[in-house]
Amino acid sequence: MHVRAVAASTSALLGSLLLFPTSPAGAAESGTPQPRVIAHRGASAYAPENTLAAVDKAAELGIDWVENDVQRTRDGKLVVLHDATLARTTNVEELFPGREPWRVADFTSAEIARLDAGSWFGAAYAGARVPTLKQYLRRVEAHHQKLLLEIKSPRLYPGIERQTLKVLANEGWLDRSHVRKRLIVQSFDAGTVRTVHELKPAVKTGLLGTPALADLPGYAAFTDQINPSHGSLSTAYVAAVHTFEGPHGRPLEVSTWTVNDADTARRVAGYGVDGIITDRPDVVRDAVGG
Ligand code: G3P
Ligand code: CA
Repeated sequence: MHVRAVAASTSALLGSLLLFPTSPAGAAESGTPQPRVIAHRGASAYAPENTLAAVDKAAELGIDWVENDVQRTRDGKLVVLHDATLARTTNVEELFPGREPWRVADFTSAEIARLDAGSWFGAAYAGARVPTLKQYLRRVEAHHQKLLLEIKSPRLYPGIERQTLKVLANEGWLDRSHVRKRLIVQSFDAGTVRTVHELKPAVKTGLLGTPALADLPGYAAFTDQINPSHGSLSTAYVAAVHTFEGPHGRPLEVSTWTVNDADTARRVAGYGVDGIITDRPDVVRDAVGG
């Protein structure tokens, strides 16, 4: 076990944080660094989510962190898509009628490569494709960006953790510079986060959700970040997470989602979060810097 609490007495500290929470303006006043701004599914308010166009849009806005979602096709290829089915963000119903519910796992990579993943968003993006993870990594690399990679619905795809790490390794994303500064692998599934950590301990990881504070000592053994929805956050919760040390000997970080307006961005920045995941990275950057 690598669980180490920074505070000598965590329970005493949590008690005082709950009694005397820091004011939202406290972080800025004390010179706390601005949170990193992470383009959710790419700059997905401006281009179709999880496409190369959304990565390009984030780069055009000067945003260096992008988030994506990874799943697996019937023939075992990793692709970048959020939903477990292809219906919402592609023309799959038109091209493949009768194949409902159009699960990603029921289609081959060749079939998915034929889909239009842009027209649903706007005519300007007609013909955008569902990228493979390999294509996606190459585009992020070409822009010198950084990646918050989410392994989505891992229970549907046994072994996806090892396979994702293999693609990352093949594409040069597990070398020292990527692992130290440019890559975080996250999931809602704690077992998946632990597996990634055990397979490649150097890789920084994140657990999505808002776990109970009592469970943090266990999670701190294998995750570097706790990444909750913004509605579930408070100054006390963020401060409490920061008291734990993750597997790489640094305080656990908090990146929150999905914050799309300036007021909410300023509010969560005041809580002391380390990252803000947003469909509108320009709006958030203008509100909080970062
Ligand atoms: O990165 C956080 C966020 O992406 C988690 O929710 O459903 O958008 O993947 P979701
Ligand atoms: Ca995601």
